Amino acid sequence: MALYSETVMDHFRHPRNVGIIENPDGVGEVGNPICGDIMKIYLKIENDVIVDAKFETFGCGSAIASSSMATELIKGRPVSEAMELTNKAVAEALGGLPAHKLHCSVLAEEGIRSALLDYHKRYNLPYDEEKFALLHHDEEDFSDEA
Ligand code: FES
Repeated sequence: MALYSETVMDHFRHPRNVGIIENPDGVGEVGNPICGDIMKIYLKIENDVIVDAKFETFGCGSAIASSSMATELIKGRPVSEAMELTNKAVAEALGGLPAHKLHCSVLAEEGIRSALLDYHKRYNLPYDEEKFALLHHDEEDFSDEA
């Protein structure tokens, strides 16, 4: 069996939503100190709906495919739904990732959550700290847990 699904390869070769958004409503930048990969997510939000999402990822093929899929999954969705996006959902939508590459999808989950936190802060919107707890983990806590 191939290590990567066709969907992963497709999103790696033809990533959707690459780039930046001028005047974004939320920006998140996250990184994994172990592999050194970095992901930046830009969101345009109108009436609490994510009308556009873009990314810049300096990272492995799985990180690029995860950013591409994650931005596709949240576009057109209400903020409340985007808040619930998990790395598991990203990996599943990609047709799976090898176990040692699951952390790449975690980066996408964190990137989007970080951009959403930025959105709440920019507009002084109330938010539940708990929902952003994943952004406050210790440096050594970058595990492959799904
Ligand atoms: Fe680190 Fe893929 S190897 S994000």
